[in-house]
Amino acid sequence: MTQDELKAQVAQAAADYVEKEVPEGAVLGVGTGSTANLFIDAVARFKDRFAGAVSSSEASTRRLQQHGFKVLDLNEVDEIPVYVDGADEIDASGAMIKGGGGALTREKIVASVARTFVCIADASKLVGVMGQFPLPVEVIPMARAAVARQLAALGGQPRLRMTKEGGIYKTDNGNVILDVSGLAIGDPKGMEQAINQLPGVVTVGLFALRGADVLLLGTADGVRRTDF
Ligand code: 5RP
Repeated sequence: MTQDELKAQVAQAAADYVEKEVPEGAVLGVGTGSTANLFIDAVARFKDRFAGAVSSSEASTRRLQQHGFKVLDLNEVDEIPVYVDGADEIDASGAMIKGGGGALTREKIVASVARTFVCIADASKLVGVMGQFPLPVEVIPMARAAVARQLAALGGQPRLRMTKEGGIYKTDNGNVILDVSGLAIGDPKGMEQAINQLPGVVTVGLFALRGADVLLLGTADGVRRTDF
């Protein structure tokens, strides 16, 4: 099976999960990325059972609205029973690297409100020790060089994210991203805390302090569910 087929398989499994587990009239939390896009497409057929969705990016908002979902401002919402999102890497404890799609800050905010974080990923995302995928860090533009020096002192090699056209990539929040390679993340919670407290860092793409509660992993033998 191709990676895209595995992604489609977990997206469908997540839609089935949501149909079963999310009460009628509840608000759905929706992530960002290619797997999350497939989830949006799969869940759209029963969109009317939700009061609406809270989205983690402008891109997901557009896709949800194209399907006729009501997209709600998080400030209007008290409870999100389930948040569904992809990951760039996930380890055996449910800790993740996220932010390959640049939406890490809004993803972390929406996830923090959700009762259950359902991670949807193809089998290539499950790793022993995270850090092969460069760790995204969203940074206030004026702090970019200062934060890059601090990240280098932690042993990483930070690189400013650029667009395909060669410009500086900007997040939905108007910030920049440093993608940090060369980190072997043996202590994900400690590293999340250490990077988050650097002045100028908005969010680090480590989701360890609040990791996934459920993993739906797409494998050649079908979808494997893990509850953390
Ligand atoms: C976006 C993310 C995505 O969840 C992550 O990059 C995985 O993306 P994909 O489903 O396209 O592999 O964190 O900021």
